[in-house]
Amino acid sequence: MKIFLDTANLDELRKGASWGILDGVTTNPSLIAKEGIPLEEQIRRICDIVDGDISAEVVATKADEMIKEAYSLAKLHPNVVVKVPLTRDGIQTTAKLSKEGIRFNVTLCFSAGQALLAAKAGAYIVSPFVGRLDDISQEGMTLIRDIMTIYGNYGYQTQVLAASLRSPLHVAQAAQAGAHIGTLPFKVLDMLFNHPLTDKGLDQFLKDYTKVFQETPVAG
Ligand code: G3P
Repeated sequence: MKIFLDTANLDELRKGASWGILDGVTTNPSLIAKEGIPLEEQIRRICDIVDGDISAEVVATKADEMIKEAYSLAKLHPNVVVKVPLTRDGIQTTAKLSKEGIRFNVTLCFSAGQALLAAKAGAYIVSPFVGRLDDISQEGMTLIRDIMTIYGNYGYQTQVLAASLRSPLHVAQAAQAGAHIGTLPFKVLDMLFNHPLTDKGLDQFLKDYTKVFQETPVAG
């Protein structure tokens, strides 16, 4: 499973990139607004830090406006994937511009039927939101499994990006379900490293080594 960071924060992206396991970035209007830098400028900066697919989301809601925004976002950098919401206008934009080679991430997907529409429109990525379904007492991970089955049945090439992942357990479950990509807030990526037995084991290894090779010999 590819690992993306779900952030527009440059410090988090630099840190994530330095670990050598980062495959891409997703942003959305809320994440861009948090950084206080205009969308196109922030996307350019992100593209300088991470070499991988970078999702940049339109803010227009009508297809004709979305199309203009999509052209201008796609021009920013070859790694930009234009993100549109899973609405009639978003699907229409995806269907039209995918044929011209623009890559789309269709976001805010909450049902398998919606994911079918994204694939039929030729989306490069579809983003089902796991945590937000859990929030309303629906099993978010079931949606990932259902989409994987449907796409497998018909050989759709659209990649399934598990979004709204809130914990290391979510990440492992998304990978088990076969999601092509998981996008993680920085905090969740950082937590993914942790295991108390790793810390305990390393501590013991170093103590044992130091006892033999580095301890100052006791006089006499
Ligand atoms: O980028 C969209 C998604 O990952 C949002 O996650 O935690 O706000 O539901 P969350």
